Amino acid sequence: MHIVISAGPTREAIDPVRYITNRSTGKMGYAIAEAARERGLLVTLVSGPVNLLPPEGVDVINIESAADMAKAMKTSAPTADIIVMAAAVADYRPRQYSTSKVKKSDGDMCIELERTEDVLLSLGKNKRPGQILVGFAAETDDLLKNAQGKLERKNLDYIAANIVGVPGRGFAADNNAITLIGRDGSQTEFALQSKKDLAGALLDHILSRLA
Ligand code: CTP
Repeated sequence: MHIVISAGPTREAIDPVRYITNRSTGKMGYAIAEAARERGLLVTLVSGPVNLLPPEGVDVINIESAADMAKAMKTSAPTADIIVMAAAVADYRPRQYSTSKVKKSDGDMCIELERTEDVLLSLGKNKRPGQILVGFAAETDDLLKNAQGKLERKNLDYIAANIVGVPGRGFAADNNAITLIGRDGSQTEFALQSKKDLAGALLDHILSRLA
């Protein structure tokens, strides 16, 4: 069984020395990759720039921007039985890339941003029959309602919903708690635990439903 996992942030370049990014560390995606490898799956890990060593025995594709992420995921998706989008893909990128370093002036400056491709939405549109597509939803408010909306809009089989903005869990933390919402309306709670344990529990749940 082949699983493709995305992890970490993306970087959207402004000029050769500057970029826009987010606080994702890649811990959740890397933990899922490790758990999948331990369970004997063939693992492709599409990773944004992070400070983590990839788990042994995993195929890693290193990417930088949301456009790179889209390309790598679309290349890997056709052979995937399970796809997990744990990456924090930037929703916007600078409209203009300056090939020379932007020089400061005395006044303020404005950077115009344009939308990036929603990779998960594209994967959902092109999902093979039987392929399992899993997304993540990090929310500060209306967790379940927002996550459910994303599950439907992006044609997902599962969405892992977690609260952000609470110290000690979620984005960039070592621990997390998740509500896994299934396409069939099921809701499974995974209590606050290390991302490593959580990754194993999530994967076991999804694999048991597949069997
Ligand atoms: N995602 C993606 N491509 C993007 C943005 C997000 O594939 N350009 C994926 C993420 O990997 C995650 C899910 O979509 O699995 C998150 O859904 P999204 O609606 O994009 O969440 P947010 O970016 O947090 O958006 P919002 O501001 O609407 O909450």
